[in-house]
Order: sequence, then C-alpha cells, then structure tokens
Amino acid sequence: MCGIVGIVSGRKVSGMLLEAIKRLEYRGYDSVGMACIAEGRLATKKDIGKIGEVDKKVDFSSLEGTTGLAHSRWATHGGVSRKNAHPHEDCKGNISLVHNGIVENHNELKAELQKKGHFFASDTDTEVIAHLIEEHYHGNFLDAVKAALQQIEGSYALGIIHAKHPGQMVAARNESPLIIGLGKDENFIASDVPAILPYTKKVTYLGNREIALLTKEKVEVFGLDGTKRDKAVEAITWAAESAEKHGFSHFMLKEIHEQPQAIAETINGRIQETLITLAKELNFKDAELKKIERIIIVACGTSWHAALVGEFMLEELAKVPVEVEYASEFRYRDPIIPPDTLVMSISQSGETADTLAAIREAKKKKAKVISIVNVKGSSIARESDAVLYTYAGPEIGVASTKAFTSQLTVLYLLTVYLAKLRGVMPQDQVSNRIRDIRKIPLQITQVLEDKENILSLAASFSRHSNALYLGRGINYPIALEGALKLKEVSYIHAEGYPAAEMKHGPIALIDKNMPVIVVATKDTRTYKKVLSNIEEVKSRGGKIIAIASRGDHEIAKKVDHVLYIPENSYILAPLLAVVPLQLFAYYIALKRGCDIDKPRNLAKAVVVE
Ligand code: G6P
Repeated sequence: MCGIVGIVSGRKVSGMLLEAIKRLEYRGYDSVGMACIAEGRLATKKDIGKIGEVDKKVDFSSLEGTTGLAHSRWATHGGVSRKNAHPHEDCKGNISLVHNGIVENHNELKAELQKKGHFFASDTDTEVIAHLIEEHYHGNFLDAVKAALQQIEGSYALGIIHAKHPGQMVAARNESPLIIGLGKDENFIASDVPAILPYTKKVTYLGNREIALLTKEKVEVFGLDGTKRDKAVEAITWAAESAEKHGFSHFMLKEIHEQPQAIAETINGRIQETLITLAKELNFKDAELKKIERIIIVACGTSWHAALVGEFMLEELAKVPVEVEYASEFRYRDPIIPPDTLVMSISQSGETADTLAAIREAKKKKAKVISIVNVKGSSIARESDAVLYTYAGPEIGVASTKAFTSQLTVLYLLTVYLAKLRGVMPQDQVSNRIRDIRKIPLQITQVLEDKENILSLAASFSRHSNALYLGRGINYPIALEGALKLKEVSYIHAEGYPAAEMKHGPIALIDKNMPVIVVATKDTRTYKKVLSNIEEVKSRGGKIIAIASRGDHEIAKKVDHVLYIPENSYILAPLLAVVPLQLFAYYIALKRGCDIDKPRNLAKAVVVE
C-alpha cells in the first residue's frame, strides 16, 4: 500500500527522500512522486511506474530544497495515472500533500469546493484535502490543516508542506499509520519504520486524530482540538542493514534463510531452563487465564493460516476450544463473544485494517485481546490488552515467510504455557516440548541445505498453470500456506485442500498436468489416510511431490518426488514443512521471471478495507 516519507532538514533532502521511499517499495505501489520547497516555491515530480524507472525519467534528486515529501501510491480512488499520483496541490500551488487512507466524504467536499471555484487536477479523494486547507489558510499553516481535518471523514496519514512556510511540515493521522523520526538537525515522517532506519532510530508514534508540526529543530504534537500532547520517544531496535538484501537476490529468499534466527530470537528470553515465561508480557492474572473457556483468533492472509495451526496446537495441548475467523468477516458479523472468551489477533504488520477493526469490535464487546505482532508500536500492538511480539525483524518481501514461522513459534510457546497453567500438561511434558522447539532453528537450517534439490524440482514444475496442495490435521493449514505462497509470487493458480476433501470436487481436476503437493509427515492419526489420498491421485495420473519425514522410505515408492524434513514432534511439523514449500514457490517464481518481492497487485500491509 502507499508509502509516505517527509523530511525537514538543514540539508538538501531530495536524495534522502528517494532512498527512503525506495526502502518502502515492498509495500506495493503503482506510481511515485516527490515535492520539495526551494526559494519559497514548490517543485513536484511524479509519474506512474517503478521508482527506478520514474527516477530515470524525472531525476528526483535534481529537486532542490531542505523540506520535502515523497509518496508511492497504490491506487484506490482514481486510476493509475500521472495526474492521480501524489503529491497533490491546491489551486495556487502553495500547498503540497501526500496521503494514505480514504476520504470517505470526498464527493460532498469536492462539490462544495468546486462551487467555491476550486479547480481539481486529479480524480483522487486526496486532492480535496489540499483545497480544504487552502480554503482555511489565513496565514497560519497548522491552524489551516486543523480546521480542514475537522471536516474530513475517513482515514488518513498525511504529510503536508506549504511554500510560504519552507521550514515546516505538518503531519496528521487517523487510522492509517504514521511515525515521526527524530534526527539531529532534521526530523522525519514515514508510513513505516524501514524508510528512516538509516537516518534515525528514535521515533514517536502519532496517535489517531493527532497532528504534528515539524521543523528541523523540533516536533510538537497536538490533538485536533489544539491541546498539546506529550509523546514518548521510543528506540527502534532493528538494524538498518536488516532491511537490506545482503547478497541474496530477493528479500523473500533472504527472509526464508533468516527463519532459524527469527525463531531463535522469538524463543529467546521466553524459556528459562524447563519453564516458559510469558507472564510479564501477557499482563493477565493467572486466575484470568485459567478461566478462559474459549479463544477466538482473528487474522488475514498468511497470519490466518498461522491461526489455523494455532487452533490445532491450543485444542490439542492446552485443551481450550478455539475458533479461527477471517478478521474481515468477524468485524461485520455481530459476533457473539461470551464472558471468559479471549480474543487473539495475529498480524505481522500490526496495521491490517480488517484485523484492527476486528479487535476493536471485540473490545467493544468487552473481550480482552492478546495480539501476536511483529512491528513494535503498530496500531494493533497499541490497541491490544497484551502483545506477544514475534522477533522476526523487518519483513520486506510481500509474501510472508519468517513472520509466519515466528508466529507459529509464539503460538506454540503460548500453548505450552497455558497448558501448564491450566494443569493439563505435566512438567515432564513441558520439558519435552521445550526441548522440541529448541531443535527447530537447526532443523530449518538442515531443510535449507536441501535447496539445490528444491531448485531443480521447481525448474521442472515451473511451466504448469495449476497446482493442488493437500494436507491433513495440523498440516492442512500448511497446504493452504504452500498454495498461497505459490500463487502470490509465481501467479500459478494453486489451491490448498484438506486431503480427504479432495474426493468432493478437486479430484475432477486431476490428470497428468496437475501437480499435487502433499504434506505427509508422520503422525499416529492421519498419516495412513494421507497415503490413501496419494494413491487416489496417482491412479488418476497426477504428479505428486510429498513433503515427508526423514527416514520415511515407504512414501518414496508411492510418489514422483519427496522432499524430506527432519523429524520432530507432529505438533511442530508445520514449522519445518512450510520451508520447502516457501523455497519451491520462490524458485518457480524465479524461473518464471516474476517480480518476487513485489508481486503484481499485492501489498505488504493492507491498511484499507
Ligand atoms: C497482506 C500481505 C500478506 C499478509 C496479510 C496479512 O495480504 O500481502 O503477506 O499475510 O496482508 O498481514 P498482517 O500484517 O496482518 O499479517
């Protein structure tokens, strides 16, 4: 989704703005623009296309000035065109602004403004904000923005500059994320942390309906009613390099390889010898956690798949009934949340609009909310009663990989913690479970060592147009995730199914042109059934790749290819089984020449409905 960067500095900013907006490319976008103020005049360059291509055409760094904004747009209102790219201006060309979010009452506002003689140059909802500010401007820039925002309904993260106020920038936020970076003799705004990592690690998070006035020396934050807000300054712990590729051809590949470390970091500090310690982070009394009768997990995309694995873990080991809901469905369903129901959300970005709305709905209904989030200070983290962070570091590739396995790690730790607390898991089993999860980072490293094999397999499957992924039990969500990875990055149509459901429809699709990927790790309940499903595919000519437990030689006789994963407890199989599927999707996309880190039409964080 759209990216925003703004800088007020003592030095020329266009080069820095270009670098910073490039660091947000992963969010997904279709056009890019920049505006700077030099000698009391605004200059703007913008166009459709990738940042590199547009830069070649317009040479962003030629813009002079020490105050400026940049934006990468992901079209919502108004098609993908130069005139709709941000920044947008008022009639006089004094005000320039960039916006993420949606102005819901833009039609009414536009009609009123047109009646007053304002001329609109674009089809966007954003442009009305520039004209509204122009309408309210009587010499005080901040006051004009405040007055305009009173009239706006909807969501916004805004960066605004004014040619008559060259050393100032106004920023405002409602629902769409915006951070303020505090530098030395310069200050920043950004929609996401990686943009400003090379320049500063000190940030302040703007809250809803807050407005900030930035100069190079200071930042002041106010409520829309004008009251001054004291904001905490927080330190970002991510290293600037963690948002760089380090010799990997894509962020996705780098992030797949970072999984052992991400999981180790996520476990770190939460295990003390034979105990899992989550009490401090959970911020609930033991009695409250013991009383929980039901858990509802809300999430979207890959995080929703993590939730499905979590459902299995929590029901199997902690004996708590769990329901998993798409956040987008939950929020509009008037859901029933009885007392003693805990609502959990899972989100890498912490900004997914539907997930955020779902936890608000839950809180409205008096439920307590625990969230599993990767981005510190994000909206979901701030609005939850407790947060269990994944320590995956910045995830830049649009297709989620290390965030997913880190989410599974947190779900597992929480499961064992609750199971012990609720008296359904004796200490010797807790110790065994801890031993199992500690093995995972090394075991993932072993899976990664098999990548040549996965690469050659991917090469022979890259020309297919469809694929079916099957799994059962705790591996069913891994079939869904494997299929999602493939369609996201390679644009091959792929579906995930519970293996036994295949007979109720998808079996009609099976012939020699249909690759079927079966997650068939050993367990006591469904392994044999999955073998029967494999036979059903084979007898119809389907080409089968199995993800199997190392040492399972039997399966090799039944399928066309096997990718082995190390043995661990069945409950942890998803953390291992997903890794070859991530690599398989990656290498197929590579072979097909796809834009792996920024697949078409996708966004890293979906901050609009
Ligand atoms: C987008 C991303 C997915 C992600 C989903 C949920 O669709 O492209 O990779 O799984 O949003 O995002 P969240 O940040 O809430 O986990």
